Amino acid sequence: MISPRSSLGPVSLGITPSKLRRSPASPATRRSVPTSAKAKVARPSFAFRLKPRDVSAHLDRFVIGQTEAKKVLGVALCDHFQHVRLTLEGNLAPHYIKQNVLLLGPTGVGKTHLIRSAAELIGVPFVKADATKFSETGYMGGDVEELIRDLIRKAGGDVARASHGIIYLDEIDKIAGSPASGRDVSGRGVQINLLKLMEDADVPIASPNEPVPAGQPRSAEQSVNTRNILFIASGSFSGLDAVVRRRLASGPRTESGDETLAVAGTADFIAFGFEPEFIGRLPVRVACQSLGADELYRVMRESESSLLGQYRRAFGAYGIRLDFRASGLRRIAGLAALENTGARGLMTVCERILRDFKFELPGSSVRRLVVDRDLVDDPTGSLGRILGKRRSGRSRPTTPG
Ligand SMILES: Nc1ncnc2c1ncn2[C@@H]1O[C@H](COP(=O)(O)OP(=O)(O)OP(=O)(O)O)[C@@H](O)[C@H]1O
Ligand SMILES: [Mg+2]
Repeated sequence: MISPRSSLGPVSLGITPSKLRRSPASPATRRSVPTSAKAKVARPSFAFRLKPRDVSAHLDRFVIGQTEAKKVLGVALCDHFQHVRLTLEGNLAPHYIKQNVLLLGPTGVGKTHLIRSAAELIGVPFVKADATKFSETGYMGGDVEELIRDLIRKAGGDVARASHGIIYLDEIDKIAGSPASGRDVSGRGVQINLLKLMEDADVPIASPNEPVPAGQPRSAEQSVNTRNILFIASGSFSGLDAVVRRRLASGPRTESGDETLAVAGTADFIAFGFEPEFIGRLPVRVACQSLGADELYRVMRESESSLLGQYRRAFGAYGIRLDFRASGLRRIAGLAALENTGARGLMTVCERILRDFKFELPGSSVRRLVVDRDLVDDPTGSLGRILGKRRSGRSRPTTPG
């Protein structure tokens, strides 16, 4: 039975394309969880108006490349929330099958970044959890139903909003039974526990472990249905490419690891250690691509979430202006690509290069630092020259800074 709008009370998914044109909210605003007071204010209607292209365009601002993943996510998210809207308007689809998403690909290429950016745009409560934190019984690790209660907390206690949220399960590959050593019993147990949630389950709002306040009976009808909660799972699936290659051994050859992951099918996921019922509940699948030096360069230059802003801010705090030259960025991108950790390699390289500058420059007379190719290739020499120049600059004021 699908609940009509009236029984759900106010929901606040009032998204219009105009929201797309807004400048990005500050991190503090973006992360803020609505207070219960705010969340309970009645909104006029459930107005989901985004189109897949809008979602993809929004993601373009933050995530470089991953065109296919953006397209697939845009379609899946819009389908899902349009379905929710139609349902709330009384246009029921009793046989609707949820389009939960599975995102795979190497580490650090934007899987989590994509989902987080999309959830911010849609403005629904969003919970991210590592699948590894759950145990089969819920004794040793977390109980999977806690995910739903986390979503209610994120929705500021608004159960109706929580019932249209997104649950993002990262590291999903870690709950696959290892095909070599036979099935991992606990991973399989977690998969089975997740099955019910991923489709249609009623989860009590109060945790069974929570003490009931004295004099108050535990309320039986206080539950959230998970039918309209979208599940997005992701993982790096290392080793899956070998499974796919084995299957394809007699068939067409695939070249790169990226291409191999892109053609992974249900049989491969089962061979990797997933239960058919589990992987079957993640019907929308898309592989993210690894990032080469060119993409890493664009991550720095074009992404609104580029780490360069963070560095400018850190140096700016000491009154030092940081200028990145294209030659320096090209070099950083090249070095980061060798790290094989996706865009995370950029931070590793920048930290290594700028560490001594971060230590030595605050408190010095240096007011501007230009990161060019020479500096990236020889940070120690560059720092010595800058400081040496400053020192000699003090005795000879005509020396340009
Ligand atoms: N394609 C990209 N465009 C812009 N920034 C990116 C991209 N990929 C990664 N980043 C940056 O790198 C950081 C790490 O990426 P992210 O957390 O999305 O990796 P992931 O693919 O989820 O990796 P893992 O499998 O290790 O969890 C992000 O916070 C983001 O700043
Ligand atoms: Mg991740």
